[in-house]
Amino acid sequence: MITEQLTDTAQALVADNKGLLAMDESVGTCNKRFAALGIPQTIEMRRRYREMIVTTPALNESISGAILFDETIRQQKTDGTSFINVLIDAGIIPGIKVDIGAKPLAGFPLEKITEGLDGLRSRLREYSEMGARFAKWRAVIDIGSGLPSRGCLEANSHALARYAALCQEAGLVPIVEPEVLMDGNHTFEQCLTVTNKVLHTVFDQLYKQNILLTGMLLKPNMILPGLDCDIQEDTQAIAEATVKCLLSAVPAAVPGIVFLSGGQSAELASTRLNAINDKFKSVLPWALTFSFGRALQQPALELWKGDESNTEVAQQALHYRAKCNRAARKGEYNDTFKRQV
Ligand code: 13P
Repeated sequence: MITEQLTDTAQALVADNKGLLAMDESVGTCNKRFAALGIPQTIEMRRRYREMIVTTPALNESISGAILFDETIRQQKTDGTSFINVLIDAGIIPGIKVDIGAKPLAGFPLEKITEGLDGLRSRLREYSEMGARFAKWRAVIDIGSGLPSRGCLEANSHALARYAALCQEAGLVPIVEPEVLMDGNHTFEQCLTVTNKVLHTVFDQLYKQNILLTGMLLKPNMILPGLDCDIQEDTQAIAEATVKCLLSAVPAAVPGIVFLSGGQSAELASTRLNAINDKFKSVLPWALTFSFGRALQQPALELWKGDESNTEVAQQALHYRAKCNRAARKGEYNDTFKRQV
């Protein structure tokens, strides 16, 4: 039964205090991160980098699933083993990013719509045959003067719901990711108001498209002030507002909420996830865990720098951040961890 399969996968992804590793940067985004560190931006360097990640020893102690990108899911280790099989053999569930990026939203010059619905049914079939068991689609919402518009919220939410329906039809668990961006000088309260509106609009569309709530995961932002805002709230305020916002919008049937890191430093992302779980874990209906990209990978990438001789130290850094976040999920990330950095 497909319903059971979806529910089992969604639960497995948030089981045992583990979380997800987002390693699904598009070619452009991956190249941008390589360029900042002077790493050559070639398909072979991206392959080597991803090989370093998926072969990290004992990564499955803290990571339940890894999100791949179309280029990566088709790649292999130097010895010819496909990345997807390396993950499966390591006990990590493979997933795939299936949107094709945020493009200008016609009629709304300052806003974006995520594309990728055309042909999605057949792409999902192919990914499923390759071994993927879940998928991800990211919508991006900017806060600005008069933004986001109702048109942008509705178009992106509708696309997320159509994507989720197609995933569930194909037996893949959809990760629904409406990201309210941290860029800008908006306040904490603005982020709370906008995120609340976004989540209500998204769930309204998910209901309308008959999404099985027990067979999906939500990937939201935490409630944070803009990166350039003068007032930066403390960890407790962030944890409280984030939980308040999620409680007002996310049905209890959703098995898990897997946060994106969105440009927070690795330590801050762990500290905030820890505060959320420390204070609220016992009273919340869903698991609250991580699906970080930068906050898991960046320290490892900065150590690897494109040099094979740095592989071991980079893998240790990735393993360590994953372990920190597993601890944060339990409310056990404390100064002892921070001193080990
Ligand atoms: P960050 O944690 O770097 O925001 O990446 C998560 C992600 O999957 C964005 O789509």
